[in-house]
Amino acid sequence: MKVTVVGAGNVGATCANVIAHNEVANEVILLDIKEGVAEGKSLDMWQTAPINLYDTRIKGSTNDYAATKDSEVVVITSGLPRKPGMSRDDLIATNAGIVRSVTENIVKYSPNTIIIVVSNPLDVMTYCAYLTSGLDSKKVFGMAGILDTARYRAFLAEALNCSPKDIQAVLMGGHGDTMVPLPRYTTVSGIPVTELIAKDKLDAIIQRTKVGGGELVNLMGTSAWYAPGAAAAQMVEAIVRDQKRIFPCCAWLQGEYGMKDIYLGVPVKLGKNGIEQIIELNLNKEEKELLDGSAKAVKEVMSVLDNMQQPVK
Ligand code: LAC
Repeated sequence: MKVTVVGAGNVGATCANVIAHNEVANEVILLDIKEGVAEGKSLDMWQTAPINLYDTRIKGSTNDYAATKDSEVVVITSGLPRKPGMSRDDLIATNAGIVRSVTENIVKYSPNTIIIVVSNPLDVMTYCAYLTSGLDSKKVFGMAGILDTARYRAFLAEALNCSPKDIQAVLMGGHGDTMVPLPRYTTVSGIPVTELIAKDKLDAIIQRTKVGGGELVNLMGTSAWYAPGAAAAQMVEAIVRDQKRIFPCCAWLQGEYGMKDIYLGVPVKLGKNGIEQIIELNLNKEEKELLDGSAKAVKEVMSVLDNMQQPVK
């Protein structure tokens, strides 16, 4: 079982480290365009194996895609991260060029791979990888919902002074400030969260979640990596272990939720075939309006990409 992580920056390196640490794959290839960086980080990680007691082999490569041949899953993290004051959408032109070229190289050596996109602006970079790859949409999807729900769950655990393990939640929409956390689908060990927290506190947590990435950019001067890397690794694990886990992921909609030809965060079932099911919740009017608003924002950025290139599909 071979997994490739493209981009040995903070997110990619963290993702590779979690995959190796949890022995999710036998072999992890970490690839980066910067000479020596992927090799160096891989070697450093491999030297944690005798300490952390795992045997996943991590290898680094400077832009040699032959090393990624026959990967079952590829995680694309390449691209510029946000700086303070930037929205994820500000990255589109640069990162689209990078994601397109990475995807072309990946499918050349792994024509049947599953691709998980992490680069921002997430929903549109996933669309870009889909158009470029020529793969079935079940095999090209994006990581955002696990990260955004993790932030939401972490804030709730803190407010309720309870274990984050017991908080389950669904969050939908784009990976931006229009994302839609869903309190009606949030429970603490099965107890509706609304029975445990006052509405104003919950509203504040929802608002903090929506700008959760920006909060970290402002603190660190660049975007986050521990939770994004771990979230992508959790998706890889669900696929390679065929776990049939249900996560919010950025998926290609063809009529679900009344939407067509759009990549948007929705609950899906992840297994060895990639997205094995898109789960359609019965949203109420207010939730549907929020989701529609988020879809509109994503569509606008998708059309920027469409105007930048002739779609190949
Ligand atoms: C974030 C970036 C990874 O939300 O999009 O932290």
